[in-house]
Amino acid sequence: AAAQDTVKIGLILPMTGQQASTGKQIDAAVKLYQALNGTTVAGKKVEVILKDDTSVPDVTKRLAQELIVNDKVAFLAGFGITPSALATAPIATQAKVPEIVMAAGTSSITEASPYVVRTSFTLAQSAVPMADWAVKNGIKKVVTLVSDYGPGIDAEKSFSDEFKAKGGTIIENLRVPMRSPDFSPVLQKAADAKADALFVFVPSGAGAQFVKQFVERGLDKSGMKLIATGDVTDDDQLNGMGDVMVGVINAHNYSAAHDSAVNKAFVSAFRKANGGLRPNFMAVGGYDGMHLIYEALKKTNGSTDGAKLLEAMKGMAWESPRGPISIDPETRDIVQNIYVRKVQKVDGELYNVEFETIPNVKDPVKAAK
Ligand code: DHB
Repeated sequence: AAAQDTVKIGLILPMTGQQASTGKQIDAAVKLYQALNGTTVAGKKVEVILKDDTSVPDVTKRLAQELIVNDKVAFLAGFGITPSALATAPIATQAKVPEIVMAAGTSSITEASPYVVRTSFTLAQSAVPMADWAVKNGIKKVVTLVSDYGPGIDAEKSFSDEFKAKGGTIIENLRVPMRSPDFSPVLQKAADAKADALFVFVPSGAGAQFVKQFVERGLDKSGMKLIATGDVTDDDQLNGMGDVMVGVINAHNYSAAHDSAVNKAFVSAFRKANGGLRPNFMAVGGYDGMHLIYEALKKTNGSTDGAKLLEAMKGMAWESPRGPISIDPETRDIVQNIYVRKVQKVDGELYNVEFETIPNVKDPVKAAK
């Protein structure tokens, strides 16, 4: 196809390094979307150019610049972690190219450029319902433990503010470094605090290591409940974490066990195409990001004018494997159901089984402004 007949998407993901599971999940989801929906949209060929940023934001930024200048991409997409999404925002603004955030979850990312549109989630979306559940279920004193960067700080603040506003007590807010965290010192502090529950956020891919150290310290037998955002009970790792996870309550936007026809078809096609790999919430963010791009191109009749694409994306609504979702026309952030889930064994495998739905949740941080 001639250059003007091809629409290029620069997909920047951490394919190696600490965040590699996010890259693998999203890459697989993008490929699945194209396998199921074809590679021609509004008469144009859609080409995905995948780049590995190793989750180093300076690399993300350089790759984004190269994709704009050399490859003339019409979309920048992916972004495994918040610093990578933020580093790209000024480039999206300057080039007037949509930046589709498929993974990162810090609230402020959508405010960093008018060209950012998010298909992932914000941490406050999960942390606020988790705090509400805790209050309603007799939990009075909580210690929080989060990764010390954007999404962790959002999770800590939104959980703590909500829990305190409803009458709960936060004994301590603990943080661990985002890179190569050692949980031992903070787990000792959490054990000493004698809380009713420990609320945890760590990014996708880090949950298993946290749980290992939690068990090694005997905290599973301490009487302190473990509650979390669904990043900790990530479908990518959950089944390998062991039966210690059975009964853990958490809140999130997606479970591979979500009971809908759309999700059943998605999970089955994803597993078939990826040697049995279970899709996680990152895969769904990538899949929906591709849907957003395809549908926006249909609306613009194939025009890649950035302003026109943004207008086409604002307010778009559809049924995702996670349930009904839409793009808030004011904030360009995702509006979605949040589910409270309990880890349970289903057919011999551990899953997050949804038992309560909070419908159409807007990012609580921006809603409060
Ligand atoms: C972010 C990354 C994650 O892996 C996750 O689960 C949540 C948030 C982030 O960097 O924004």
